[in-house]
Amino acid sequence: MLQNKILVTGGLGYIGSHTVVALQDAGFQAVIVDNLSNSTINVLEGITSITRKAPIFERLDLRVKHDVIEFFKKHDDITGIIHFAASKAVGESVKNPLLYYENNLHTLTYLLQECTARNIDNFIFSSSCTVYGEPDSLPITEDAPVKIANSPYGNTKQISEEILKDTCAISKLKTISLRYFNPIGAHDSAKIGELPLGVPQNLVPFITQTAAGLRKELSVFGDNYPTPDGSCIRDYIHVVDLAEAHVIALQRLLDNKNETPFEMFNIGTGKGSSVLEVITAFEKVSQQKLPYKIVDRREGDVVSVYADTTKANNILGWKAKKTMEEALASAWEWEKVVRSTT
Ligand code: NAD
Ligand code: WQD
Repeated sequence: MLQNKILVTGGLGYIGSHTVVALQDAGFQAVIVDNLSNSTINVLEGITSITRKAPIFERLDLRVKHDVIEFFKKHDDITGIIHFAASKAVGESVKNPLLYYENNLHTLTYLLQECTARNIDNFIFSSSCTVYGEPDSLPITEDAPVKIANSPYGNTKQISEEILKDTCAISKLKTISLRYFNPIGAHDSAKIGELPLGVPQNLVPFITQTAAGLRKELSVFGDNYPTPDGSCIRDYIHVVDLAEAHVIALQRLLDNKNETPFEMFNIGTGKGSSVLEVITAFEKVSQQKLPYKIVDRREGDVVSVYADTTKANNILGWKAKKTMEEALASAWEWEKVVRSTT
């Protein structure tokens, strides 16, 4: 059988690796490009062990235009691209905006130049609920206005979507932008998962590292927000469900089922959970108390964010299947594996 060869940029990263598994399980041939700036080569073994099929891998920095061109000359039978590769730390982006504009926008531009030159028409983009800022109403639909980003990272996601729309307008490119809410969890096999470098900035890896004894206690950033328990609310989506959304979106494009050249979908569960609820749920699944203290609010945090997933459910034909508890349990299993091997 002739397989669709799909380029997965950043395919050794957290969401990319889970998506490569989903792609290969669905019969696609994944070609991973990654510069290992935020991942390790061991992830390749994890993917191969789960799917029993080795993805093609090229270590390459997408900021080097010449290397991008050479890559496409070598792999001239790519039929679609799922573009994960980017820098993603909000705080770091404030300190080093040019790194973010270069890594998140140059790389996209180089890829799109190759798409238009080579008639690669199917493109899935990793966007973020960060584009909605502090929403006017909840749950957030795709019609909600994009708010001025409060970080260069957020800016890059907004600008990327504009770049994609503009490119769709002048070429045969079809794009689906998936606006992720808060991805958490790991593959059930505990062979791949999130691998934050240094001190985690995100809630769930901080929780699992605290439970594993690596951190003394979790700081809960504020308990005086206008929410039922005073802590912030987010929509935590299992990374395996999120990965599945990419395969469904890609198939939609390959089948020419898209209604417009540029489409975007919220990818969340539709359910909001507060920080304190996440802690309680984690304590339940891990059967241990989590040491935590309440501290001041974190600058830039929005109060409450969760998705209206009607469009993704009805038009994309995707729905999250896994619960937050399942996601937390898988994150905990993964943390234990990581601790036992480091
Ligand atoms: P990640 O850092 O785990 O994965 C990104 C991968 O891209 C890494 O393996 C990294 O080494 C690689 N990479 C970065 N720059 C590169 C370059 N110039 N050339 C080649 N490879 C490069 O991040 P993730 O959590 O898997 O996120 C994937 C995408 O999803 C990103 O675009 C991110 O902005 C977006 N996103 C993530 C979240 C989240 O909370 N994790 C939420 C919304 C959107
Ligand atoms: C979740 C909640 C914190 C850590 C970020 C990016 C966003 C997107 C997803 C990429 C918040 C609280 C956290 C801690 C805490 N990424 N918290 N103690 O801020 O919703 O979103 O990741 O696109 O752009 O901004 O996720 O996991 O950092 O925080 O109390 O040690 O947990 O205040 O309410 P966030 P998060």
